[in-house]
Amino acid sequence: IMMFLRCHRSKSVWAALCVLVLCWLYIFPVYRMPSDKEIVDEVLRQGQTWRRNQTGIDLYRKLLTECCDPKRMFAVTKENSPLGKVLWYDGELYHYHTVNNETYPFFVQDIPLQLPLKKCSVVGNGGMLKNSACGRDIDQADFVMRCNLPPLSKEYVNDVGTRTHLVTANPSIIEKSFQNLLWSRKAFVESMKAYGSSYIYMPAFSMKPGTDPSLRAYHALADSASNQTVLFANPDFLKKVGHFWKRRGVHGKRLSTGLFLVSLALGLCDEVTAYGFWPFATGLDEQPVSHHYYDNVLPSSGFHAMPEEFLQLWQLHKSGTLRVRVGPCVHHVDE
Ligand SMILES: *[C@@H]1O[C@H](CO)[C@@H](O)[C@H](O)[C@H]1NC(C)=O
Ligand SMILES: *[C@@H]1O[C@H](CO)[C@@H](O)[C@H](O)[C@H]1NC(C)=O
Ligand SMILES: *[C@@H]1O[C@H](CO)[C@@H](O)[C@H](O)[C@H]1NC(C)=O
Repeated sequence: IMMFLRCHRSKSVWAALCVLVLCWLYIFPVYRMPSDKEIVDEVLRQGQTWRRNQTGIDLYRKLLTECCDPKRMFAVTKENSPLGKVLWYDGELYHYHTVNNETYPFFVQDIPLQLPLKKCSVVGNGGMLKNSACGRDIDQADFVMRCNLPPLSKEYVNDVGTRTHLVTANPSIIEKSFQNLLWSRKAFVESMKAYGSSYIYMPAFSMKPGTDPSLRAYHALADSASNQTVLFANPDFLKKVGHFWKRRGVHGKRLSTGLFLVSLALGLCDEVTAYGFWPFATGLDEQPVSHHYYDNVLPSSGFHAMPEEFLQLWQLHKSGTLRVRVGPCVHHVDE
């Protein structure tokens, strides 16, 4: 019996080890990411040539519709989240919010967009946009999406444009820049005017501490008779989009806002151009590139897998499914 027990025990130790190793491989897969230099060289080889590929566009719209249904699910609505619906926070383990009489009135009736959208610009905030002169190209789209309440003041207009139709607002910004809206809502409402009558897309149900600031932002805007509509990101949609890219080799703890928006755009738009996606410290001209077009504050490392995300975008660019603008936007004289 002792023999059997010992044997049995060691078997379960082996099994546990096996599981550990498999988990390890899942989180840190054994393949070598190309170095930043190799990626830059590859981008230079490709040059500015790009050809739209309708097959690729249709394929990705189909894949994203099957996995994540962006047209119906990207925001929390009265349709997809009725009273009593359980919303599981996608950035937390085992936390949920049950839609109740208090939160339900915050939700829009249904996705408010006229679909499909035609040409979309998705603007990341990468330092590569600085002196890019891409503002005009960005603004020429029918629908412009931006990340994390970026500055759009005069000095940036030429590089990033002025129009916004949807902008994401992370609750952590509300906390950092506006003291959680506990004291003054005026500065917040004032600064939001830069985004015109856009949709403010907030991941209110991703992290528990983000819910209250998001609801307060909603109130602040509603009370100020602003034209902006707050849309709460549907945590189920965010989770599914995260899995979609994980299956394709993006292994960060969490997808960046930029890749969420690109995925949304691939699901909703006929044509997608991405600007300001460049996570490397040097540009194509081998000059240093700041982290954002407006500052050089680095993110906490290990949270997002930016080079992996960029490689995915670059694959889509090469296949003509979307266009990634890197480097300056050149205008021909005859335009
Ligand atoms: C167009 O996209 C499809 C689907 O992604 C892909 O299989 C095909 O190779 C692409 N065509 C070109 C010319 O890249
Ligand atoms: C929510 O409101 C409805 C109608 O106003 C009411 O019938 C219902 O009892 C309320 N539910 C809760 C949980 O308060
Ligand atoms: C709100 O939007 C309407 C229509 O889009 C526009 O006419 C109006 O000027 C806007 N008001 C403000 C305060 O931006």
